[in-house]
Amino acid sequence: MTANILVVGSGGREHALAWCLARSPGVEAVWVAPGNGGMTSPAMEGSAAITTLAVAADDGPGLVKLCQDKAITLVVIGPEGPLAWGLADVLRRHGQTVFGPGAQGAQLEASKAWAKQLMVEAAMATAPSWVVTSRREALDLLHHLGRPLVVKADGLAGGKGVTVANTMAEAETAVERAFAGAFGQAGERLVLEERLEGPEVSVLALCDGQDLLLLPPAQDHKRIGEGDTGANTGGMGAYAPVPFLSPQDLEHMRSTIFLPVLEALQGRGIDYRGVLYGGMMLTREGPKVIEFNCRFGDPECQCLLPLLEGNLAAVLHSCALGQLAEAPPLTTQDSMVSACVVAAAAGYPGPVRQGDLITDMGDSSGHGVVFYAGVKPTGAGQLKTAGGRILASVGLGHDFDQAFDHAYKRLEGIDYIGKTVRSDIGHQVRGT
Ligand code: AMP
Ligand code: GLY
Repeated sequence: MTANILVVGSGGREHALAWCLARSPGVEAVWVAPGNGGMTSPAMEGSAAITTLAVAADDGPGLVKLCQDKAITLVVIGPEGPLAWGLADVLRRHGQTVFGPGAQGAQLEASKAWAKQLMVEAAMATAPSWVVTSRREALDLLHHLGRPLVVKADGLAGGKGVTVANTMAEAETAVERAFAGAFGQAGERLVLEERLEGPEVSVLALCDGQDLLLLPPAQDHKRIGEGDTGANTGGMGAYAPVPFLSPQDLEHMRSTIFLPVLEALQGRGIDYRGVLYGGMMLTREGPKVIEFNCRFGDPECQCLLPLLEGNLAAVLHSCALGQLAEAPPLTTQDSMVSACVVAAAAGYPGPVRQGDLITDMGDSSGHGVVFYAGVKPTGAGQLKTAGGRILASVGLGHDFDQAFDHAYKRLEGIDYIGKTVRSDIGHQVRGT
């Protein structure tokens, strides 16, 4: 396969995708739109060049033109925003081969009510829930049931739309905020849901519409503070694979959750070609679905891709063509595990300071890789901070202690004012 690939997006996930695609055999060039200043890399032995282009992820006509100008053979769409407004549909209408669902399929993430309905129809294990469209309806339901429910804005809310209420007062406040417009249109409809308990894992499947390939399960760390405390973030670190999920557990999820979702989507006439991300809670009664996303997780993607062995470009291309069976094997590096630690800016997930110079002593060990997210070039060949999550350091090892050692050591050599790192990522699996 000779491939000229476009990755759409600008975060750490897209850097990891570009990096892994550039190393895939047969790839000639990887373009990223709009990308970020930390992503570009010249072609090196066994790797294609990565080049960023200043075309925004919401600029449909601009991206169509870019595909034509650069003779793109595969487009990989990273973030949920462009998937939800239908970028994949626009590009497909212009004859492009795209990895990423169209707007209809992306409703799995863009409407929690729509996703819940599909889960119920496909009879999969998930929390009981109610959809409400007014403040009165929501408060009546809470008072009728007499217990705090999880309150979720229906639409995309940048990861801030969910309140896991501990008290009735918290649940009521979340309802009031949503109907007062805290999430704009995304909060005009709410899903109220019973609370589930247990560890959470992210299970990602590469789908071709009918068939799918499960990647190793990963565990994210959503809270900003040590010991999983404080505000929810986009994700402060991850590790993979998750040792407490067996191959049998995964096979069970495949047959009771992932394949039924693809079937239910087909039943709605949706040919889902892209990532199906299941946020799973491992409850005492077994795994239950918390949510679906229509894209790679961030930072799960940064954690998972370096762990894989095979030709990612060929696999995503096969999925995009609806021919996963034709794809070459994509496996996990033998007896290796992966650790990913995110460095954020001071203040994240609230307002952050920006514009601080990033210094990097470089990597002498060769055991890790750094993926950049919220950065901008200084103009003098260096990078400065320009966002909430700045970068992710990923280390591989034969066990988690070694992998995290590599990831944290690499981070020690990178500095900027306000560098914010959780020191306990992977506490579940380190020292075991
Ligand atoms: P979501 O935006 O759907 O990913 O939800 C954000 C976070 O809220 C999840 O990662 C869970 O930690 C938590 N959450 C969502 N739904 C539930 C639930 N039914 N029970 C307990 N926690 C939940
Ligand atoms: N890391 C969680 C997410 O990407 O939704």
